Amino acid sequence: MTKLGVNIDHIATIRQARKTIEPDPVEAAFIAEKNGADQITIHLREDRRHIQDRDLRILRETIQTRLNLEMAPTPEMIGIAKAVHPDSVTLVPEKREEVTTEGGLNVAIKGLEEKIAELKSSKIKVSLFIAPDIEVIKKSRKLGADAIEIHTGYFANSKSEKEIKNEVERIKDAAHTAKKLDLYVAAGHGITYHNIHYLKDVVEIEEYNIGHTIISRAVFVGLGQAIREMKALIG
Ligand code: PXP
Repeated sequence: MTKLGVNIDHIATIRQARKTIEPDPVEAAFIAEKNGADQITIHLREDRRHIQDRDLRILRETIQTRLNLEMAPTPEMIGIAKAVHPDSVTLVPEKREEVTTEGGLNVAIKGLEEKIAELKSSKIKVSLFIAPDIEVIKKSRKLGADAIEIHTGYFANSKSEKEIKNEVERIKDAAHTAKKLDLYVAAGHGITYHNIHYLKDVVEIEEYNIGHTIISRAVFVGLGQAIREMKALIG
């Protein structure tokens, strides 16, 4: 069965809009797990715009499934990861001015191999959030990553059926190559209740990390139901 990682950053975004104590991502994670989430994903951003250090600390204590920490490969974040010890880290690019993560990680950045090794030596699994590009996948393997998360944003932004088909093919080839190289294959970004069906034949995808669409639907039907519906769709 394909695993579902639920990204709960948006719960913290609502809380931070008022800088209050509700809604609490800790409660969201509890509900998510009770309703079938296989993993909780959070992104601790440099500007702390949504998830706070306190959330990460408490979630590490309360999560019963797996905690996946998305973060930029900066010395500050690596220090935090080594101290808090999530089950996995997904390295993502981060720009202050972006609304959400744009584009995949640049795997050519200096010192990435050493950073991956440092996290792995703390027994944290390391995933790289990358474009569905065969060369980037091969490089990820060489750098020592345990996993890749295929950036599905380009697919999600595609408009015509032709464009969508092309992107699905790219994702399929990428997932196939990654699997052959013995990398764990996740995918995420921009996936919705309406576009996930296009990816059903990409059997190599072992895990989806999905946030915005689930939290949006939760506003109307509740978080538990929103997660159960997505679990049913990913199969
Ligand atoms: N995976 C990664 C690496 C991300 O940065 C994000 C966005 O925070 C997601 C998955 C989830 O994307 P979305 O909120 O569009 O479902």
